[in-house]
Parts: sequence; C-alpha cells; structure tokens
Amino acid sequence: MLTKVHTGLDPVPGIWWRPAHKSEKVWVAIAFAWCMVLFAMMPLWHFRGGQNPAGVRTRVDPRAFHERTMEFAAQYKVGEDRGTPIVQPPPGADVYLTALTYSWYPILQLVAGKEYMLHISSRDMNHGFSLYPMNINFQIIPGYDYALRVTPTEAGDFRIVCNEFCGIGHHAMVGRMIVVDSTGAEVADNASARVLGGASR
Ligand code: CUA
Repeated sequence: MLTKVHTGLDPVPGIWWRPAHKSEKVWVAIAFAWCMVLFAMMPLWHFRGGQNPAGVRTRVDPRAFHERTMEFAAQYKVGEDRGTPIVQPPPGADVYLTALTYSWYPILQLVAGKEYMLHISSRDMNHGFSLYPMNINFQIIPGYDYALRVTPTEAGDFRIVCNEFCGIGHHAMVGRMIVVDSTGAEVADNASARVLGGASR
C-alpha cells in the first residue's frame, strides 16, 4: 500500500539525476542516428523514390469534371458491366475517373505498357483511391483534378477500393479497372479469378 503521497515539491526518490549508464547513451545515439537516416530519406525519396504522383494538379468544378467523365465514357465505350460502362481509350489519351458516393465511374480498360494521363476527382466528398491488389493509394478530394501519368505494367482485372470512410456505403464502394496485355488479348480467366477472390461479382 502506498503510504507516502508525492507532492511534486519533494524530490522523486531514485537516482535519475546521476549520469546515464553507458549502454543508455549508446541506445540514445543509435536512435538519434536512425532518426537522421529516416529524416534524410524523406527528401531523398521525393527525388529517387519513383512512386510520386505526376504533380499535375488543378482546381476543377466537381460537376464539370463528372460531365467531362461521362462525355469521355460515351466516346470510348466498348461494353458494360451491370450498368457501368467499360471504356477503352486509345493509348496516350486523357483518361477520366470519377469517385461518387458510392461508386467509381466508369470501368477503365487500359493496355499494359502504354502511357495514359489519368485524371481522378470526386463528384461529392473525400474518397480514397486504392488499386487492389497493387500497393497504390491516393486521396480523392472534390474540387481537385489529380492527373497521374500512368503506365500499367501488369495485365489483370483489378478492383478499385475506396479507402477513405465516406459514409454508409463506403464498404461497397468498389470499382473495376481492366488491363489487357499489349497484344490486345483478353485477360486470362485464371488471372481475373485470382484478383477477384472474394470481391463483388
Ligand atoms: Cu468512398 Cu469510402
């Protein structure tokens, strides 16, 4: 049972005022050195990381952006999946993708190895663009057009998962992105089955 009440006016019992033990100093030095390494990595990664967005970013009216997306979808539509158009733009084209509560519009079909300028924005609120199962994450904020210079490297049938809580339908906000290989061949069934596992379809 604690009998003595420490008031803060009395010195704390112990030896904390004595010089630190050598091993403690070593650990502080190691921790500090590691902090400096991580600190240096931040600017280094900015230039050498290869994972940075293209940095082409503009303000945009959310409604105008979605209208542009619908225009784009109508122009290059090649199919449909449960009411959402599948759109295959020519390589090098400006590609548009809108996040709406609670869906992604349209379904993009891109060719592996070709570069596109991918414009992403939100029609209504903050969403998160996460390309599953790739490690790509991006905040999608209404009023901003994030133009990303992308070159798909792998053919497959991918899912776009919203990773920013946006409301009651957040968990169901799953979109689709198809990448066909450069010969234009359809995605192999086993590849799509692998990516699909458990996703809505
Ligand atoms: Cu959109 Cu969560």
